[in-house]
Amino acid sequence: MRKRLVALLLALVLVLSMTTGAFALESGPRPIVIQGAMDIEVMDMVAALKDAKEITYGSWTFWSGTLEDYPVIVSRTEVGITNAAAATAIAIEKFNPCLIINQGTSGGHDPALHRYDIVLGKLSVNYGKFRSEHGDLGQGIQPEKWIPDNVSLRVDGEKVYFDGFKGDQEVLEIAERLAPSYEHGKVVVGVIGTADEWNRELDRIQWVHETYDSSVEEMETASSAQVAEAYKIPFLGIRILSNSEWHGEEFDPKSASYCQEYTLEVVKAYINEKLQTSPAEQALPGIYFNDEAISLSTRPIIDKGVIYLPVRELIIKLGGTISWDAENNVAKATINDQEILLSSQDADLFQNGVIYIAADKLGQITDYKVAILGLNQVRIFQ
Ligand code: 5AD
Repeated sequence: MRKRLVALLLALVLVLSMTTGAFALESGPRPIVIQGAMDIEVMDMVAALKDAKEITYGSWTFWSGTLEDYPVIVSRTEVGITNAAAATAIAIEKFNPCLIINQGTSGGHDPALHRYDIVLGKLSVNYGKFRSEHGDLGQGIQPEKWIPDNVSLRVDGEKVYFDGFKGDQEVLEIAERLAPSYEHGKVVVGVIGTADEWNRELDRIQWVHETYDSSVEEMETASSAQVAEAYKIPFLGIRILSNSEWHGEEFDPKSASYCQEYTLEVVKAYINEKLQTSPAEQALPGIYFNDEAISLSTRPIIDKGVIYLPVRELIIKLGGTISWDAENNVAKATINDQEILLSSQDADLFQNGVIYIAADKLGQITDYKVAILGLNQVRIFQ
């Protein structure tokens, strides 16, 4: 009897530890999923992951590891809308991501864009769904008369029609801000057109571009976005032009590497700004101006006991103005009727396109008095 009780207790402990173990896994930070269709569109990102582990479900392979100590999963979706949708649904059900980025190569629809330019998708559209009016036998086929049709999802039990899927504003802003660091072409915000088509007829390309306002065409983004929308998971498409029929620019696999490189920068910035909270950052210092709290949309940074403040936003919040004097390579700030010139030497920290100055420097370069109370408060007085 006693032996049985002990065995029962042991079994109970075992079951409990297993379930709490599983729970612990699910309750960790939600990973970021980055997708690419082909090997050349994922392998640089897989190489950038720390401790990458590979797992395959059906046709679809995922590599899970970390980037900046944050969980990231690279997903090879394979080519086309069915593959993209399946890989996205699996990623969501298996990994519960907090963000999905679909990136990779594409063909130019906008004649203003060239190979290696990058399009950040404010919208992605399925441009391959049509219906047509009746035509009698022998009347021929006229694709330009086909009527574009919306795609649909069932949302909370109701059918909802979508003429496109929006890119997540927060990620889009970070991705836009990194544009000046991209060396191989332009970075623009635009519309990504998705269908199981590779178009080379310029009349067709022009028609799609004019009808859908598409910047590029490819075969996955809007399809992944549709599944992400069903689960309400933030999503962004990042597509590089690997080819453009307008300019006779043929597919170059190097573009796949450039796109991954840019995407990795976006993901790192997103992790550092939105997801990673070090113990120091969790207790952010309060910033006060004449005893009133001011809130900065860019977080101050605490590093080795020094508080760094985003200089542009701070000056504006203190009622000043700031503009860039390109001729002399200085920022001109006017604050409290005082003109201050800030050169690059005045920047104490530069991170993700934002210039920071140490909090105590503010007291040196302006007439304001600055009191720094430990790492908890910065009090500025006029
Ligand atoms: N048209 C369609 N898809 C393209 N791709 C790159 N360029 C184009 C293009 N001009 C991408 C698709 C697909 C693979 C064939 O390459 O997204 O994954």
